[in-house]
Amino acid sequence: KTEQSLRPQRLSQYIGQAQLKHKLSVYIKAAKQRQESLDHVLLYGPPGLGKTTLAMVIGNEMGVSIKTTSGPAIEKTGDLVALLNELQPGDILFIDEIHRLPKAVEEMLYSAMEDFYVDIVVGQGPTAHPIHFPLPPFTLIGATTRAGLLAPPLRERFGIVEHMKYYDTDDLEQIIKRSSKIFKIKIKANGAHEIARRSRGTPRIANRLLKRIRDFAQVSGQKAIESDIVDRALHLLGIDDAGLDSVDLKILNTMIKFYSGGPVGLNTLAANIGEETDTIAEMYEPYLLQIGFIKRTARGRVVTKAGYDHLKIPYNKIS
Ligand code: ADE
Repeated sequence: KTEQSLRPQRLSQYIGQAQLKHKLSVYIKAAKQRQESLDHVLLYGPPGLGKTTLAMVIGNEMGVSIKTTSGPAIEKTGDLVALLNELQPGDILFIDEIHRLPKAVEEMLYSAMEDFYVDIVVGQGPTAHPIHFPLPPFTLIGATTRAGLLAPPLRERFGIVEHMKYYDTDDLEQIIKRSSKIFKIKIKANGAHEIARRSRGTPRIANRLLKRIRDFAQVSGQKAIESDIVDRALHLLGIDDAGLDSVDLKILNTMIKFYSGGPVGLNTLAANIGEETDTIAEMYEPYLLQIGFIKRTARGRVVTKAGYDHLKIPYNKIS
């Protein structure tokens, strides 16, 4: 599957997140030298930045197997026991959206993470009794969009807690060039740069746009992707010069037209534009904050002068 081969397999192939990579390489090397399992890892940050990819890379670097699941997929404690039971010493259990684990499952993880055992209750009513079930040492890698969504007792059991940052244009350009090679697409430097610049700091978006732009280039008989076909394709896709999509623009326009640029609360805003509050909080707001088009205040979000300027709407507030 091409999707799979797009994912780098080793830390040396993983582009960007330089500081994080450096730290992880040290932790991995140290754990291997001691012949121990890697400490539990929590990765948090906006979607599409490569949390799952990084978990798989860690597995490859450690030379262990990785089992992948997600918070909502583990419905009962029995589901978790079944997963843990299949682990070999040192293996990785990767739980995406770990903030969405059912409470009972989350509580069972505490002893599993800290002391490598779970207590399973067998029997019912008066005959119910716990059975101590030892586990091999393993590494839990959890991924979540916001670390603050995790219950503190769970969060505190991760020895390695790392934030994934948005990628800069240079890193995205490299990722796009690498993906182009894998897809056997010809791309000019100005084409890769233009896609990178308009991908909201997010490899998943860059790779998705690359595929769509390839379609446009192919159908219009272009041999190589260059910046003007990128520009035309992105215009058709409703992506503006800063990489903002229709939802980003709706957020900014609604804040300005109905709330005089804010402050406005997230729930109010979400109701107004017909999106889930979580979607805005996790996918849209972080990037708009990052590029400085909105900012947070005690009373809610406000559009900044840069945000007004981008929309070419006059800004007449005292700052
Ligand atoms: N594809 C998606 N994210 C990547 C990354 N960080 N490095 C290399 N290829 C990628």
